[in-house]
Order: sequence, then structure tokens, then C-alpha cells
Amino acid sequence: MRPPSYKAIVDEFAVSIRSGRLPAGTRLPTHRALTRERRIALATATRVYAELAAMGLVVGEPGRGTFVRTQSGYDGLEPSRALPVPRVADLSFNQPLGEGQADRLRQALRALSVSGEAEALLRQNPPGGHLHERAVVATYLLERGIDTAPANVLLTSGAQQALDAVLRSLTRPGDVLAVDALSYPGIKLLASAHGLDMAPIPLTETGPDLAALDRMCRTRPVRGIYAIPTLHNPLGWVLGRDQRDRLVTIARSHDCLLIEDGTYAFLDSSPPPPLRALAPERTCYVAGLSKSAAPGLRFGFTVLPGPYVETVTRSLRLAAWGAPGLITALATGWLADGTVARWEEDRRGDAAARQGIARTALAGMPLTAHPVSYMVWLGLEPHQRPDHVADLLAGAGILVSTADAFATGPHRPRALRLALATPPRDELGAVLERVRDVIDAIPP
Ligand SMILES: Cc1ncc(COP(=O)(O)O)c(C=O)c1O
Repeated sequence: MRPPSYKAIVDEFAVSIRSGRLPAGTRLPTHRALTRERRIALATATRVYAELAAMGLVVGEPGRGTFVRTQSGYDGLEPSRALPVPRVADLSFNQPLGEGQADRLRQALRALSVSGEAEALLRQNPPGGHLHERAVVATYLLERGIDTAPANVLLTSGAQQALDAVLRSLTRPGDVLAVDALSYPGIKLLASAHGLDMAPIPLTETGPDLAALDRMCRTRPVRGIYAIPTLHNPLGWVLGRDQRDRLVTIARSHDCLLIEDGTYAFLDSSPPPPLRALAPERTCYVAGLSKSAAPGLRFGFTVLPGPYVETVTRSLRLAAWGAPGLITALATGWLADGTVARWEEDRRGDAAARQGIARTALAGMPLTAHPVSYMVWLGLEPHQRPDHVADLLAGAGILVSTADAFATGPHRPRALRLALATPPRDELGAVLERVRDVIDAIPP
């Protein structure tokens, strides 16, 4: 019998991994064992594993071996992997884009190309942006209940860079950062990159357990509290005024920094005041236009207490200087002429419509979501392992995130997060029904 070609071995492994026969974490045979089992050369075994790694199916750990990777799609730590079938839908990452936005970009680029500004765009901008550009963002923020001097605003490449610069400047390795027990995956990456000790805040049905946070602050030297008070990722909560006041009181009495993430806040047209308005002396507000204009723009900002502006500016300078001039020109143009306000209005309607579709398609399943949020948190039964469910859904061409990506402590709830913004709206219902069918078909 001829030894199988390396491609056939790759395909065989790929099918086993994607079908769940080889679950995440399985250690594959060593290269040498594979050569014996399959009667292939060592170079061929190496090629098999290299190809599987390139497909996102396995990962080699030096000194330990080759392991099957989790197939749950974008989890905030890894790029989405190759799917066994053409992609049907991405429910792992929110990329809301409205009709006509590409045309709006073409128009804006044409206008810039003939404006007197073109030359200025080739000159180095100050880290954090020119004051007149920061003023445009300051004006926009008035709508969100934030009244700040332009000098306290810094422009960044997305909210993620703003978070990075704030943590880099205002914390030291070993500092304790209190973070909701389920939170935005990007904060986990940053906490680990900056050597912070992430302390999970237990959750209640309506938000973080503030009594537990207070106890934590009494017993541990908590340097900062990361909070998403309006349209939390992933749970969708909007904290009430009382909860916000309590959070501020805790931060004040233990002298903690508040890092407020307002990335999705625009989806709520009348939320209670932001923490930044309640405690401007200690709140670093971060947000951007990824969910209201376009994630590919990479435009974000932070609003800082005066004494922190200089040190955070230095951090931006150290990293990537903040938002590039061309992107800033586009974003501030759209902020100033009302385009972003119109897109935000459209998104509010879109998110509410998508929530309605999700509630119908997933009726009867344990959902946690806000009526205008772009995501749902879907609880699973004990026999439905999140990794396994995500693998099955990937097999059906649907990418989702598992609770693992959001858990900041050791407890991993049995749940998926479904991001609703990316598939075309008229396909979302069918995609979610497919999700439901795949989950329902798992035998108890
Ligand atoms: C809560 C939260 N904060 C920050 C970000 C990062 O946003 P940006 O694309 O502006 O870096 C995201 C992106 O999904 C998010 O969900």
C-alpha cells in the first residue's frame, strides 16, 4: 500500500478536529510517532503539523508537543480560523456597517484630495492630535454627557490604544485592576501585557456586585477599576444612577482610578450620566468610532483628568503616536458635519431590530441582553459544552465566541456570546435559527 500523501493526512486530522472527534486540548502524536504510524518521512510529519497550525487547528508548544486548538472562532486572543465549509455568518465580532458608508468614504477622500489640507496631512501631528481636532471630539462628547476641555482629550488608534496608553502610564506591574468577572477580552490582553493582577468583581443580575467590590478594595490595594457602565460587553447591562454613584463612592474612598469604557454607550440614547461626569478627577474615559462609524477606521479617544494628560501623551508617543492625520481628518470631518450622529441614530434602530430578531429566533432559550445592545449572552445546558457547541457551529459555517474569552477569573460560565451586528440583517434570523437547531440537536 502506498503511504498516504501528506495532504490526505492533513485532511484526515482537519476533519477529526472540526468534527470534535479530536477535542480542543488533545495532544497529537509526536512528529516521530507520526512518522512510524503513517510510514512517512520526518520532514513530511513536520509539514503536516505546519499546515494544520497554519489552518489554525493545532498549536505547537515547545517541549510539550502539538495540541488541538479551541475552534470557537474569534475569542479576542486569536484570529478566526479556517472554516470547514464556506463561512455562513460571523457572530464572533461586531462590525456594524450601514448602507452607503463606502460611498461616503469615497466622497470624503475626494474632498480631502482637493482641499488645502492635503499637505498638512503629510506633516507630523502631535501625539494625541491637534487641539482643534480634540475640540471636535470634545464637542461631540457633550451629547454623551461629558463636558471637557479639548486639552483633556487625546486622539488614539481605537479605544484599545487608549486603554493601552492609560494602563501603561497610570499603573505599574503588580498593581491590582478590578474587572467584572465577565468583561471585554481586550482588557484581559492589556492587563496581562502590563503585568497587572486582574481581580474579578463578582456579578449580580444587574451589574457588578458593588458590595463585593468594596470588600475587595478594603482588603487589596486596588489601583484601578475597569467599568463598562452603559451597554456592557458581553452582558449588555446599563448601570442605574444609584449603581454609578456607589461605584464612584467606592473609587473615591479607596482612591482608585476609574477606567470607563464607553465603546457601545452611543447605542443608548439617554443613559444615566457617565462616570466621567460624576468623578472627573479620577475617571479616564475611553471610546471610539469602531461601532458607530467603522472598526477599520481605528479612531478612538480618551478623556483624562488634567494631571494625567502629559504622562498618557508620552505613552501614546511611545506606542503609535495616536490616531494618524488622515484618519483624524476623516473622523473629525464626520463628527463635525453630523454624519456620525446620523450613523449612530441608524445603529440604534438597527441594534433594536436585531435584538428583536434574536429574541424571536432564540425564544425560550436562556438569553441575557439589553433591548438595544448588539450582542446576546446565551446560556447553555450542562450537556452542551461551550467549546463543543462552538465547534459544531463552526462546522455549520457560523463563528461564535465562548465564555472563556470574557472570563477574567477562574470561573468559566457555560455560555456563548453572539455578536449580532455583522451578518446582513435579512439573514440574521435564519442564522440564529441554525444556531438554535445545532444546539437543540446535541443529545443530553
Ligand atoms: C468594550 C470594548 N472596548 C473597546 C473595544 C475596542 O474598540 P476599538 O476598535 O475602538 O479599539 C471594543 C471592541 O469591540 C469593545 O467591545
